[in-house]
Amino acid sequence: MATAASTPHPEVGTPIVAGLPMPEFRRIGVEPISGACGCEISGVDLREPLDPETLAEIMLAFQQFLVIVFRDQDLTPEQHKAFSRYFGELTELPQAPTYGGHSDMQEVRREAWEPVNVVPSFEHFHTDSPFLPQPPKCIVMRAIDCPQWGGDTAFSNAYLVYEHLSPGLKAVVDDLQIIYSGRDIWAKNEALAPEKRLRLREGHSFTEEQLQSIHPAVRVHPETGRRAIFANTAYFKGFVGWTEAESRALLDYLQSLAQQLHYHCRVKWRQNTLIVWDNRFTLHRGVHDFKHERRHLIRTTVIGEKPLGVADWHD
Ligand SMILES: [Fe+2]
Repeated sequence: MATAASTPHPEVGTPIVAGLPMPEFRRIGVEPISGACGCEISGVDLREPLDPETLAEIMLAFQQFLVIVFRDQDLTPEQHKAFSRYFGELTELPQAPTYGGHSDMQEVRREAWEPVNVVPSFEHFHTDSPFLPQPPKCIVMRAIDCPQWGGDTAFSNAYLVYEHLSPGLKAVVDDLQIIYSGRDIWAKNEALAPEKRLRLREGHSFTEEQLQSIHPAVRVHPETGRRAIFANTAYFKGFVGWTEAESRALLDYLQSLAQQLHYHCRVKWRQNTLIVWDNRFTLHRGVHDFKHERRHLIRTTVIGEKPLGVADWHD
């Protein structure tokens, strides 16, 4: 007699993780963090150049899991940059404070004595710098100091958000374009009370033109054609051809979907934890649930392709 476990269910196929079957890895250890996104990779020393097979598996893990986590990577800034360049060319950012003397590294720092000073749009899940003509492909971030308790970073898989929409709503968002602008970052920050202000970069050489862009609301992966929602509150000005009220209503709905736990993973930092996250197909947010402890993360930013929309994608 068949047991419950062995009863045939033709609809049950291969186990799925991050929306796809688990790839096979031979050179690196890969442990998924949640069913939605993220994995921890073991067996790699990022101080050393990577052999082609190991690198190919890291890229495969990055493509599938979108957030890849390495522990105990005590890197110099040069080693950090060298590893980052496997993902593409590094870019400066106009608004993020730089790290030390490195114009191509940024830092996220909250001192133990500082209160929470995160502006509201960054308390939501967001992607970094979507106002740029070629927003970042990925961020490579490493912990110098982190709280004993709390201060995690959470991620939301934007492919899954899109894939779970109804055919009707997909048809609407597939054709939408979004205006993102970073032109008012500095003026908005100045208007805040001093203790609420973000720590911004002192100066930059980006033009006004480069601080505002129109991008598709549904972004297509340049190699796989997989689609994801590319809409978030940070720097959002509206959907092209929609009123502000209409734009806000739809954006709020899409944002509410990205909050759902079954799209998430959450990573606890330890000193020398290094995370690479895909800034095109995930949203992220720091969790400011710590107090009286220092949190200092340093990062590089890899430039992405000009976002492709559904209309730009041809099989
Ligand atoms: Fe961010």
